Amino acid sequence: MANQQQTAARKALITGASSGIGAAFARRLAGEGYGLILVARRAGKLDALARELGGAETLAADLASEEGLACVEARIAAEPALQLLVNNAGFGTKGRFWETAPEGQISMHALHVMATLRLTRAALAGMVARGAGGVINVSSVAAFGQSPGNVSYCATKAWMNSFTEGLDLELRTAGSPVRVQALCPGFTVTGFHEAMEMDVKAIPAWMWLRADAVVAASLRGLARGQAVVVPGAFYKLIVALEKLAPRPIRSAAVVWGGRRR
Ligand SMILES: NC(=O)c1ccc[n+]([C@@H]2O[C@H](COP(=O)([O-])OP(=O)(O)OC[C@H]3O[C@@H](n4cnc5c(N)ncnc54)[C@H](OP(=O)(O)O)[C@@H]3O)[C@@H](O)[C@H]2O)c1
Repeated sequence: MANQQQTAARKALITGASSGIGAAFARRLAGEGYGLILVARRAGKLDALARELGGAETLAADLASEEGLACVEARIAAEPALQLLVNNAGFGTKGRFWETAPEGQISMHALHVMATLRLTRAALAGMVARGAGGVINVSSVAAFGQSPGNVSYCATKAWMNSFTEGLDLELRTAGSPVRVQALCPGFTVTGFHEAMEMDVKAIPAWMWLRADAVVAASLRGLARGQAVVVPGAFYKLIVALEKLAPRPIRSAAVVWGGRRR
């Protein structure tokens, strides 16, 4: 653990900071003067990022395990300067629900749902009492629909959106200035697709977002109090069409597309 930023006036804790969007959040927030607490399983990657940023606290933890989650939850509850929590750690799997190993699906629910719920609860208690702070839950455009071969991923991200939108309403109802956001990116260049052994050759270059652009859209949205942020014009259009299309048409299109794949 490297503890060189204990004195920073405001701190951010980022889960899944060892790669991709989480690492991009870390670089951007370090530039804005935040003291960082970086969480993921790969301690070596966290330490390398902490060195690159000139110092950060690192916490190696598996958030799909009770032990790892309890450790990070306790760290959040004990941090009076926590200004921002980014629940970003996540992963995808491939294959039909009934054919893939149940352990992967269970871990995904533990990470996307239970870890998000418990870390958000630990952070909000202090933030609401202090009257300042924010929570960003990194969801996905997958939250707005369903997709064969990706059922648990879509379901857990839909939960994340519903949970975040509910909290947003609850905080506003209570008159709290604390803000929450579901960040819903489309295809973003990170380690995500390699980790799930997904063949991305068929995805055209113009569909890919950059992780730093996703982070910039998220922080802009948080400053404006946007509870749901979809980065990029193309993905905004897709989400709008998904919301407009009647359910039977959406379902027929998904089955048609799924069979062709
Ligand atoms: N890339 C995309 O196209 C895309 C699109 C929409 C949404 N997202 C979402 O964006 C988030 C970040 O993913 P990414 O694209 O940046 O992928 P990534 O580069 O693979 O990063 C995923 C991060 O999650 C961490 N992680 C995974 N399982 C964990 C566990 N059990 N405990 C703690 N940390 C864990 C990984 O670190 P360790 O392996 O070191 O633990 C890594 O830092 C995810 O929630 C993903 O669903 C990604």
